[in-house]
Amino acid sequence: MSIQIGVDYYPEQWPEQMWEQDADRMKECGVKVVRMAEFAWSRMEPEEGTYDFEWLDRAVSVFADRRMQVVLCTPTCTPPLWAFEKYPEIIQTGPDGQRIAIGIRGHRCMNSPVYRTLCEKIIRQLVNRYRDNPAVIAYQIDNELEANHCRCEVCQESFQNWMRKKYRNVQEVNAAYGNSVWSGEYSSFSQVKPPMGDFIKWQNPSLTLDYNRYASESTVAYLEFQRTLIHSLDPDAWITTNSWLCENMPDFYDLFQNLDIVSYDNYPTTVLPESQEELYSHAFHLDLMRGIKQQNFWIMEQLSGAVGSWMPMSPSPEPGMIKGYALQAIAHGADTVVHFRWRTAVAGAEMYWHGILDHSDVPGRRYEEFRELCRIVDGLQEMDGSYVKNSVALLYSSDNEYGFKLQHQAEGMYYLEQLKSLHDGFTAIGVGVDIIDESADLSAYEIVLAPTMLITHEETEKALHEFAAQGGTILLTNRSGVKDVWNKCIMEPLPSIYKDMIGAQVQEYDVPGGRKGKLDIVDDTLRREYIQCLQCNFQQNQDSSETEINVLYQQWCDILKTDSAEILASYGDCHYAGQPAITGNHFGKGRAYYIGTVCNRALYIALAKCMAKEKGIPYYDNLPLGVEITYRRKDETVWRFIFNNTGKMQEIRIDDAQYLLSPFEMKMERLTQ
Ligand code: GAL
Repeated sequence: MSIQIGVDYYPEQWPEQMWEQDADRMKECGVKVVRMAEFAWSRMEPEEGTYDFEWLDRAVSVFADRRMQVVLCTPTCTPPLWAFEKYPEIIQTGPDGQRIAIGIRGHRCMNSPVYRTLCEKIIRQLVNRYRDNPAVIAYQIDNELEANHCRCEVCQESFQNWMRKKYRNVQEVNAAYGNSVWSGEYSSFSQVKPPMGDFIKWQNPSLTLDYNRYASESTVAYLEFQRTLIHSLDPDAWITTNSWLCENMPDFYDLFQNLDIVSYDNYPTTVLPESQEELYSHAFHLDLMRGIKQQNFWIMEQLSGAVGSWMPMSPSPEPGMIKGYALQAIAHGADTVVHFRWRTAVAGAEMYWHGILDHSDVPGRRYEEFRELCRIVDGLQEMDGSYVKNSVALLYSSDNEYGFKLQHQAEGMYYLEQLKSLHDGFTAIGVGVDIIDESADLSAYEIVLAPTMLITHEETEKALHEFAAQGGTILLTNRSGVKDVWNKCIMEPLPSIYKDMIGAQVQEYDVPGGRKGKLDIVDDTLRREYIQCLQCNFQQNQDSSETEINVLYQQWCDILKTDSAEILASYGDCHYAGQPAITGNHFGKGRAYYIGTVCNRALYIALAKCMAKEKGIPYYDNLPLGVEITYRRKDETVWRFIFNNTGKMQEIRIDDAQYLLSPFEMKMERLTQ
């Protein structure tokens, strides 16, 4: 697959006389792909059953004539107003039981039979018209699908049917959910309702987790309805949907299972993070996206200007960011990077979400940088077909994310933050991480990071035991083995099913609130690495307050009792002073580490170094803060990417070479022939 740059374009928003000039400019820049039409339903079908695709034919040919490829979208995220007026039942219903106000987008009920029929008709028209057009290379289904949280009657019934399929009878549900609490026992499936109203957090967590699973599956079913329809009309169609990280994410792995490629909307922040913990946050999201199918992916929308509209505007991307962030995505496995959007809208709610060109249409600084990006990417053709593969895996699980989100257990403690801390530890030493589904095959990895394995799944437990027994290194953290699959607590000392593997158990846990306590590192190797890390940090960042050999813990404390495990660090204060907090154990031919608390950054880096060293994985001791090293490979050839993800000049000394990188600069080099 080619590495290339594209743009998002909205022909329906611009006078037709502008299309050719826009396309000429794109061509001149080196744009290869144009995505369009995801919101253009009212132009495609101005009245029910009256279709007009001539304008889209002309738009597609403007780009095809210039040898650019086109991604067309099903426009189903924005049904026309005539459809809402005629069929009000297609409007989504909120948790208060009321239909939500229309005039925006995404506010349709995915399960409504009437809506599905309307979708089917417009998709048939679209695909039949373009399936033989060689310029149209792919379809994007809908836009940024969220898990279906509509509570209309159709959806309530669909949830009940989902429950009927999953459980043989209500007695089984009552037992699974522990419904004797608060007289919550169902005597009929008709009493099973989606969580509604203002007090959702007071509902039974077993119900809310199942409801989230249903919401995700319901969206996947809607996506599948579109995918199978497109494939029935054009069996060779290449199909994706653009994902993002939102409050109600469908399970990524299910969402993309039958699609050809993952695509992601990437808007890295233009406000440089104050906290060091956030430096590798973009890298984290890109690694998460690559890991969904464990394949290269696309960016379907990429940052191009200041973002804003329904919130105050962010700063405009600093010089170097447009180029740097796009190349960063490529370094993490993106092949095509499509920029949102060509020109900033002059109308509609998004007029302050900036594109490559401003409202004036006068090419400026961002346009010039984008041109330069296209030129650089044009020169990367030898990397076509290369891929990213690492020896460290980090497990993500939709169940764990929702289980944690639905019951926020400690102030400031978030599921994704726990994952990010571990990802950050390895990224900071130049060791790449593949973020993969908890059920993915682990056999190709040396190290598996398994934070917050809150909800237990037998298969995951087996796979992790097997992995460690066969010689792999595992790292588990607090809040693991806590719940059964129905989100009920397990009656065992924690981490329940993982106790034997970590050679320790939790005697008691504590939530220190806003307090930050002190940890003592007991293990010499860890201590040495930690000190080295602090010294390195201090040299690079004179403002750092971490000048003392002080390890801090916060948010959560598992007070451990060891069995076969060695103690790596223990609590230095509070009534559990001297009790173990971090341990390491030999299990089978492998190792199992456990972090019972949430630590400061340097400790995660130090632990990453210890683990990498033990497994013989090469790493860098002295990477400046915010510098990333990644690799793409093809056959015997390896390319190294060194990215300065900060706003200051960085000097990097690795492998006897020295590099000076400006803010957001990417250095790419071929390491082997
Ligand atoms: C994305 C969305 C685009 C546009 C963009 C900027 O989330 O897919 O259509 O809205 O954000 O707001």
